[in-house]
Amino acid sequence: MHAVPTLIEEHATLLPYLVELRRAAQDGSDQDLLAAIAQAAKALGPDLDGHISLEDDDFFPKVAAYLDPMIVQPFVQDHREIEQVRDAVYLGKAAGAALRADCLTLCGLLEDHIAREEQMLFPAVRDVQD
Ligand SMILES: [Fe+2]
Ligand SMILES: [Fe+2]
Repeated sequence: MHAVPTLIEEHATLLPYLVELRRAAQDGSDQDLLAAIAQAAKALGPDLDGHISLEDDDFFPKVAAYLDPMIVQPFVQDHREIEQVRDAVYLGKAAGAALRADCLTLCGLLEDHIAREEQMLFPAVRDVQD
């Protein structure tokens, strides 16, 4: 599957922003938190939307065709949940406990999702020609 290296590269680009966002949400001042959210705006906004579109519209349908539609279903559901929490983070709320909790939820969802894609989904289709 020729999309796999690109998808892995995009994950690697995103992950440092999640590390910083988690650090700011756990231990940072309100100013640190808002700065980390602003710094990740492109990575978690247009870049993440593009990544999700590539998976939902191109990669997952191919995986579903080669393997089984049931395999990609949980990953598609993850995307909808990730988008929902991401949108909540970028609503422009004040830097309070609710925003910190949303950031930690988003980091956890994305890190878990990426790990499952890379450990379960990508290896299953690595040798499939497309
Ligand atoms: Fe994904
Ligand atoms: Fe992904």
